[in-house]
Amino acid sequence: SIARIQGIEIIDSRGNPTVRAKVTLESGIKATGDAPSGASKGTREAVEIRDPNGSVRGALNSINYYISPALTGVDSRNQSYADNMMIELDGTENKARLGANATISTSIAIAKAAAKAMDVEIFTYIGGAGPHYIPVPLLNILNGGLHAGNMLKIQEFIIVPVGFDTFKEALLGSIAVYKTLKNLVTEKYGKIYTALGDEGGISPPLSVTEDALDLVYTAIKNSGMEGKIMIGMDAAASDFYNEKKQIYEIDNVTKTTQQLMDFYVDLANRYPLVYLEDPFEENDIKSFSELQGKIKDVIVTGDDLYTTNIKYLKRGMELGATKGVIVKPNQIGTLTETIEFLNLAKENSIKTVVSHRSGETEDGFIADLAVGLNSNFIKTGAPSRGERTSKYNRILEIEEEYSLKYRGNKY
Ligand code: PGA
Ligand code: ZN
Repeated sequence: SIARIQGIEIIDSRGNPTVRAKVTLESGIKATGDAPSGASKGTREAVEIRDPNGSVRGALNSINYYISPALTGVDSRNQSYADNMMIELDGTENKARLGANATISTSIAIAKAAAKAMDVEIFTYIGGAGPHYIPVPLLNILNGGLHAGNMLKIQEFIIVPVGFDTFKEALLGSIAVYKTLKNLVTEKYGKIYTALGDEGGISPPLSVTEDALDLVYTAIKNSGMEGKIMIGMDAAASDFYNEKKQIYEIDNVTKTTQQLMDFYVDLANRYPLVYLEDPFEENDIKSFSELQGKIKDVIVTGDDLYTTNIKYLKRGMELGATKGVIVKPNQIGTLTETIEFLNLAKENSIKTVVSHRSGETEDGFIADLAVGLNSNFIKTGAPSRGERTSKYNRILEIEEEYSLKYRGNKY
């Protein structure tokens, strides 16, 4: 059982303070869990506790003075009991009292400690004996929006390596495209524009969506990967929606909701687009649903739309709003609620995308989470920067050791 839980201030990949929870069991076994931090957050997310100066002191206090005493003596293998105790102790809708950064780091640390205590892999501890599959990675190789310094409004241009038999081959194929893209950008704009954005993608000096798509598509073709590697986008459209004028400001022009809808349909016809996240602002669920009806082969996906909260997913299901959902543990604040959300999506044949945040740590936990819960996809940035490669490397390790089948074309 849990002997104590300690809150430790660490830094994330942007150099901002974040929370590490360290769980010590009676047996002496120790495990840690880290809280990541987003930049383009949904307004309905569980909230992290952070002082105006950026410090997470308050969240550390939550762990040290409230969570640790409450969970001392609890069996680490009883994840839902521990998580429900934190939910009760917090008592708010959005973890505002304890802080989702305190609760999610603790929740993850408890799961890892339990896996260690039982001497099983984290993914089998979370998801049972199996069978397990390796998810298809969604690699964000060209950055815009709040994650980059350029004028692109679409936040992420993603490659989706489906035409491979193993995760390793899929990753190597993706890296070939990523390197080709860097060379294309160096030739066209100069080497300075291959500097990396927050999630490891490059950010060339572009402002028009189609120019970015052309670059990515050319990189795919020049690498000989056409037909094997598809394209995805995370628009993160809440960030370029002008609420007062009820208009989208994109590609140096303004678009009405209807014009933006037609724009996406046109792009889906002209590029090998298979994935489109948050195409509209987070309150316009009806437009998600209308778009999904028009582009049936594309997995329209809700991130800010659902914020890993079953309450909002249920509404989406009623409307048939999206074929995909993003699953970010820190958007809801406990592992138990995250698993519940993912399972609800799966039961309804909605594709799941276990995802990192733009501010990450080297904790590879979400790789185990994605494999353990048999997620269709994992979204964890470009194949660069340690906080992104920690997840890819963990999947490579799992694939090598357990010979699990890669989902590939059957995502
Ligand atoms: P965030 O963005 O982690 O900065 O919120 C990631 C995303 O929108 O998918
Ligand atoms: Zn997103």
